[in-house]
Amino acid sequence: MKIGTIGAGRIAKAFTKHAANAGYNVIMSNKSGTDALDATVKTFGSKVKAGTVDEASEADIILLSIPWTEVSEVLHKKKSWNGKIILDSTNAISFPSFKPLDLGEKTSSEIVAAAAQGARVVKAFNTIEAATLASDPNEGKGKRVVVISGDDAAAKAEVLQLLDKMGFAGIDLGSLASGGKLQGFGGPFTGNNIIKILK
Ligand SMILES: NC(=O)c1ccc[n+]([C@@H]2O[C@H](COP(=O)([O-])OP(=O)(O)OC[C@H]3O[C@@H](n4cnc5c(N)ncnc54)[C@H](OP(=O)(O)O)[C@@H]3O)[C@@H](O)[C@H]2O)c1
Repeated sequence: MKIGTIGAGRIAKAFTKHAANAGYNVIMSNKSGTDALDATVKTFGSKVKAGTVDEASEADIILLSIPWTEVSEVLHKKKSWNGKIILDSTNAISFPSFKPLDLGEKTSSEIVAAAAQGARVVKAFNTIEAATLASDPNEGKGKRVVVISGDDAAAKAEVLQLLDKMGFAGIDLGSLASGGKLQGFGGPFTGNNIIKILK
């Protein structure tokens, strides 16, 4: 299974580190081009390569990790995402107030899913601060929890498997509407570092 990232910033780097350590091949992409990414990908070893957004979008599972303002344009560039899994790590934040954007009745991941036609969107990796996400998922006597939400049961099962291989404890919060509300920016999971104690 191949993994791609759209965005190569703090969250994408944290994610890629754990994915590469778990043995996955990852193509990272960014806005400013592969030259700017060469040094970054080298830090992760031979499993990680720099590519264009189009190349990263060919992977089976794609981490979306870009500013909210860029999301719609990037996702609409592809007419169909052909059943690929998009891991939506984005947060809809108003700057400079750093408050949740008013999205009306929709959660941000429902908006992502509407823009990414044909994709199976699973919200993940948006609630934990990047430096914490980058650190060892084993903490104390437990594992760091990554909460997920989505409307496709098979996609969520794949993501839970991926999380397990990366060393995280995945917890399914429900649909993009209900779970998405819980894990959306400003909701109860925002910024929380939750550890699942292992018996
Ligand atoms: N930082 C956190 O602690 C944190 C925690 C949870 C969720 N989030 C969310 O995760 C997302 C990413 O945050 P971040 O902190 O990782 O951001 P970041 O460090 O600022 O990196 C953003 C990345 O997005 C890339 N990018 C921007 N526009 C793009 C486009 N049109 N096409 C392709 N790539 C594009 C940038 O490319 P260049 O490198 O070429 O500029 C950069 O690599 C945001 O939605 C944020 O709200 C962040």
